[in-house]
Amino acid sequence: IDTDVFLKDKAANNFFVGAAVSTNRLSGKYNELLTTEFNSITAESEMKMRTIFLGPGNYNWTAPDALVNYATENNLNIHGHALVWHVEVPDWMTTFTGTDEEFEQIIEDYIKAVVTRYAGKITSWDVVNEAINDGGGIRNSIFLEKMGSDYIAKCFQWAREADPDALLFYNDYNTPEDLTKQNDVYAMIDELQSNNIPIDGIGLQMHISIDNPTRQQIQVDVDKAIERNLIVHFSELDIRVNPDGRQIVNSLTEERDFAQRLKYKEVVDLYNSIPDSFKYAITVWGIRDPESWIIDQYNRPDWPLLFDDSFDRKSAHIGFLEGLE
Ligand code: G3I
Repeated sequence: IDTDVFLKDKAANNFFVGAAVSTNRLSGKYNELLTTEFNSITAESEMKMRTIFLGPGNYNWTAPDALVNYATENNLNIHGHALVWHVEVPDWMTTFTGTDEEFEQIIEDYIKAVVTRYAGKITSWDVVNEAINDGGGIRNSIFLEKMGSDYIAKCFQWAREADPDALLFYNDYNTPEDLTKQNDVYAMIDELQSNNIPIDGIGLQMHISIDNPTRQQIQVDVDKAIERNLIVHFSELDIRVNPDGRQIVNSLTEERDFAQRLKYKEVVDLYNSIPDSFKYAITVWGIRDPESWIIDQYNRPDWPLLFDDSFDRKSAHIGFLEGLE
């Protein structure tokens, strides 16, 4: 396999190869690697409510503007993440004392303000993120409590009204492995579609490990999306080498490094075999291993990404390229 090729070029124009980025990292070697290997970005934090939504009708555009300007200057696609999510709800919102109708109005105003501002620059949005519980059932949140169970439909409608050209995604995690969650995600989407609510795609986050999920489990999930005519985004891909159930390793052993290469190859090969009209992007959730959220989240060492702390390509990068063959 020719390894002297960049990820975005190997994927050619069938789909974007993206990375989650933070504005505080966009310089020097990081900038060089990002703009040569990738052609799409997702903001790891800059486009979340806590960053932008300072109060009713009060928005702070500094961080998202910086990222959008950077991406535009560097000809990078931008995937917007995330308009409505139960995490990163700003503190002022949790103590909101207005009526439910007033709450709904400020959410509508927020979604329309953000999507309108970046119309033509941000091509796709995670409109609602992680609305279904692990194990199934609609997740309780301030949005469900104050806007009712059709809050998801309302958010998609408002986003579409604000930018008819943006691709609107629902985004969630663990649906290949958690079949009750998977079932309820697609039941929710079926209801949206039966009510003619605009939804263009699904983001499968793909925070996975070298052991789980299996290729077959991912395929079942992808097939359900395609059956519903949904574009598929592998939206937050990272592959842990210290999965539950295995002996924890304190360095990236050769055996785990190779297993990770095979898993990246498997996942990318599966995505590459999706019919082109249902492809959008594979986005890895970070560039260098030490930057990964996984390490703090699981409170143990891990090396889940494509590049090491010296910005060098890992075997995982070869696996990604092999999957694109
Ligand atoms: O910016 C503040 C800083 O001012 C403060 O000093 C510091 C210490 O409290 O916190 C900083 O905010 C942190 C933020 O990342 C920016 O770095 C938050 O604490 C921290 O919780 C936040 O973590 C992010 C997390 O989402 C929550 O937004 C992770 O970086 C990010 O990788 C993670 O990504 C999520 C996706 O959005 C949705 N899918 C799951 C995925 C992993 O949780």
